[in-house]
Amino acid sequence: MTLAVFSAPVSPNDLETIIRIEHASFTQPWQRQAIVDELACPDAFQFVAKAAPLPCSQATAVGFIFVRLLTDEMHIMKIAVEPQWRNRGAARALLLAAQTEAMRRGSVTALLEVRSSNNAAIRFYAKSGYQTIGIRPNYYPPAGETALVMSKSLKEEP
Ligand SMILES: CC(C)(COP(=O)(O)OP(=O)(O)OC[C@H]1O[C@@H](n2cnc3c(N)ncnc32)[C@H](O)[C@@H]1OP(=O)(O)O)[C@@H](O)C(=O)NCCC(=O)NCCS
Repeated sequence: MTLAVFSAPVSPNDLETIIRIEHASFTQPWQRQAIVDELACPDAFQFVAKAAPLPCSQATAVGFIFVRLLTDEMHIMKIAVEPQWRNRGAARALLLAAQTEAMRRGSVTALLEVRSSNNAAIRFYAKSGYQTIGIRPNYYPPAGETALVMSKSLKEEP
C-alpha cells in the first residue's frame, strides 16, 4: 500500500487521537484539559501529521506537534508520533511544517527542552539540525531529570 504522510492544522476531530498518542508516548502525559487549553492558547499553533493510503481523503492523524511563539523564538512544546507509525518520516514532516509556519510568523530561532535520557528524540532533533546549547538540571518533576536545551537557527536551510 502506498502511504502519504503530511501535516495539517488540528481540527476538533483530532482531539481524541492526540490524547491517545500523548498517553502512548510520554511517561507523564498531559491530561485532557491541559491539551484542550494548549489548543486554545494564543501565540501558539499546532499541527497533526496525517497518513493515508492515496488518495489522502481517508487520512487519519498519527502524530502531532505543539508550538508556542515568544518574541522571535519558536518553542517546541511537544512532538509525538503514534508508536506503530514511527520511523516513517511523520515527525520530520511535522517539524518542517512547524518551522515554516513559525518563520512565516517571524521566528528566527527554534528552541526546545528534551529529557537527557530521551535518546530517540535527541537523535531525531540532531538529525534535524538542532544543537545542544545548554542543560537545565532538576527540570522534570518529580525525580528532577535533567533537560537538554536544543536550538536551531531558522535562517539556515531546513
Ligand atoms: C521522537 C519521535 C517524535 C520521532 O518520530 P518519528 O516519526 O519516528 O521520526 P521520523 O521518522 O520523522 O525520523 C526523522 C529522523 O529522525 C531519526 N530518528 C527518529 N527516531 C530515531 C531513533 N529512535 N533513533 C535514531 N534516529 C531516529 C530518523 O532516522 C530520521 O532521520 P533520517 O531522515 O536521517 O533517516 C518519536 O520517536 C516519538 O514520538 N517519541 C515519543 C515522544 C517524544 O519523546 N517526543 C520528543 C520529546 S517532546
